[in-house]
Amino acid sequence: MRAAIVRPVALLAQAPRSEREYAAECPRPAGHNACAMTAPPTRLRLRPTMLSDLDYVVGVEVDAHNLPFITPWERMQHEGAVRFPDFRHFIVEAGEDYERAGFVILQGCRNPHRSVELKRIVLQPKGQGYGRACVRLLKRMAFSDLSAHRFWLDVKQLNSRALALYASEGFVEEGRLRESVRVTINGADGYDTLIVMAMLDREYQARVALGQEG
Ligand SMILES: CC(C)(COP(=O)(O)OP(=O)(O)OC[C@H]1O[C@@H](n2cnc3c(N)ncnc32)[C@H](O)[C@@H]1OP(=O)(O)O)[C@@H](O)C(=O)NCCC(=O)NCCS
Repeated sequence: MRAAIVRPVALLAQAPRSEREYAAECPRPAGHNACAMTAPPTRLRLRPTMLSDLDYVVGVEVDAHNLPFITPWERMQHEGAVRFPDFRHFIVEAGEDYERAGFVILQGCRNPHRSVELKRIVLQPKGQGYGRACVRLLKRMAFSDLSAHRFWLDVKQLNSRALALYASEGFVEEGRLRESVRVTINGADGYDTLIVMAMLDREYQARVALGQEG
C-alpha cells in the first residue's frame, strides 16, 4: 500500500502562473510494480507544454496502452489548449533525469463557477507512482493556485486503474453517464459508462489537515 505522505510541493511562485513549474518528490512504497517495501521517491514536475512538444503529446495519446481510456484530440485541439487561458496544458517530467513521462490538461481555469476539470492525464511508464504524485500536484494547483471550489473529472468505467487512483486520492463519485462513449474492444463495438468524480475545496482542506496531501 502506498503511503499517504507527499512532501510539500515546490512552486516557483515568482513566475507568471501559467509558467510556474510544479514539482514534487514523494515516497514510493511498494506498489504494483515495486518489489521492495521501500522504493526510491517519485520525482515529478510539471512544465507548460510547448508547441514543439505536441508531436510527443499526440504520440502518447494514440499509444495503444492509452487509447482505450481516452478520446484523443486532433493536434490543433492541443494547440488551442496550449494557447487558450482557460486551459493549462503541462508536460509531466519524472524520474532521476526528469524525462518526459506524459502530459496533463486542466480545463475551466477561468471558470466563473470555480469548477476546474482534470480534462486529461496520460502517463507512461505506468505503475511507478507517477499517477498518484501527479494527481496530488494537480489538486494542489487546482485548489491553492486556481482557487477552485470543485475539481472534477470523468473516467470510463473500464478504466479500473484510474478509478482506483482517483478514489484513493479522495475523489467522490457523483454520478454515471450510462453508455455515453463508444468503445471497441477486441474488434467488437460497444458503449462504456462515464463515471463523474469530484472533490470540493473543503474536502481537500480536510485531507490537508489530516496530512493526506503531504
Ligand atoms: C491512469 C494513470 C494516469 C495512472 O498513473 P500510474 O502512474 O500508472 O499510477 P500509479 O503508479 O501512481 O498508481 C496509482 C494507483 O493506481 C492503481 N493501479 C496502478 N496500477 C494498477 C493496475 N495495473 N491495475 C489496477 N490498479 C492499478 C492503484 O490503486 C495504484 O495505487 P497503489 O499502487 O498505491 O495501490 C496512467 O496509468 C495512465 O496514463 N493510463 C492511461 C490513460 C488514462 O487512463 N488516463 C486517465 C483517464 S481518466
